Amino acid sequence: VSGSLPERSIDEPADGPWTDRAILAALRDPDQRRNVVALLELMQTQLTPRPGLLLQHLANRTRAELYYFLADWLNAQNRDFDEVLRDLVESDRGRRWLYDALNQARMDFEFKRAKEHTRLRELYLAELFPGIGDVSVSVGAINEESGLPNKVDMLYVSAIAAYFNVRKIFEIGTYLGRTTYHLARSVPEGTVYTLDLPPTQAGEYGPYLGAYLEARRCPSNVVRLEEDSRRFNTTPYQAQIDLVFVDADHSYEMVANDTSKALELVRPNGLVIWHDYAPKTPGVYRFLRDFSQTQPIFHVRNTALAIYRQGVDSTRFEASAMLPSLEARFKPD
Ligand SMILES: C[S@@+](CC[C@H](N)C(=O)[O-])C[C@H]1O[C@@H](n2cnc3c(N)ncnc32)[C@H](O)[C@@H]1O
Repeated sequence: VSGSLPERSIDEPADGPWTDRAILAALRDPDQRRNVVALLELMQTQLTPRPGLLLQHLANRTRAELYYFLADWLNAQNRDFDEVLRDLVESDRGRRWLYDALNQARMDFEFKRAKEHTRLRELYLAELFPGIGDVSVSVGAINEESGLPNKVDMLYVSAIAAYFNVRKIFEIGTYLGRTTYHLARSVPEGTVYTLDLPPTQAGEYGPYLGAYLEARRCPSNVVRLEEDSRRFNTTPYQAQIDLVFVDADHSYEMVANDTSKALELVRPNGLVIWHDYAPKTPGVYRFLRDFSQTQPIFHVRNTALAIYRQGVDSTRFEASAMLPSLEARFKPD
């Protein structure tokens, strides 16, 4: 990638490193392309020795404009996005972190684009289910093995189960059984069916299936089922399940498959919840973008959860009033 620094638009600070203000000013210049070229040069020359600073710019969502511009520019290149990126990083293997950060930027950018064409209605959980803030659920607080920041989503799903005091839950995709376990604890009088592949067919997941459940004496209200969801016969459970949680293979085709199973399973007025409506799983958000054209779906704000409530039109649904906190005033959209 070549290009020269715009002459006047980037205000090079006399007193040391580039500041947020200088970088953002560069991006806001109407001559966007040249500015982005400048930014790339900047990354390679000024910021590369200071990856922390650059990552702060790329990763901080409140400064999303910076990486959207960058991802947009990379997307607009005649060459393949990955190729352009590779050129950027291959000169120095230590720049791997840059590749990762930009890929993250691209994923966020594509997700943002897909969201422009979706009909998912975005609400806070308490706007969807008034009073759910009063529900408490027990939680295994430590999740150091995976390091995943998904705990909030697991708590939300458990809170929804408790809120409706559901009797039958069906999870597609058990993995460790962490969500299974918390769901079972949230509705001790209910039953949680959880489906995953037989371990020998589950590839890298195989050795881990159900491990969290087994380590904690699997609650007696959990029923584990081992079968490929493509072949799973829903007949014994049809139209009986209060809450279906779709969280297995995240490819478009498989989310479509699991959704059609979920719709067979769910009882009238029941709920279907999908996990991983997020930049890292395009199969999920692309499927939901298409599915939401004809079906009412909600996205729970600040989570990767999407919800279908049978019989509820998401476009006409009247959101419950919430009193936003004082802090909300200072948050960007
Ligand atoms: C994202 S993990 C599930 C996480 C789990 N629900 C949780 O909240 O902790 C995905 C799981 O789906 C399973 N899976 C993938 N393809 C499947 C299929 N065709 N049928 C059933 N399970 C499948 C994988 O074996 C894996 O354990």
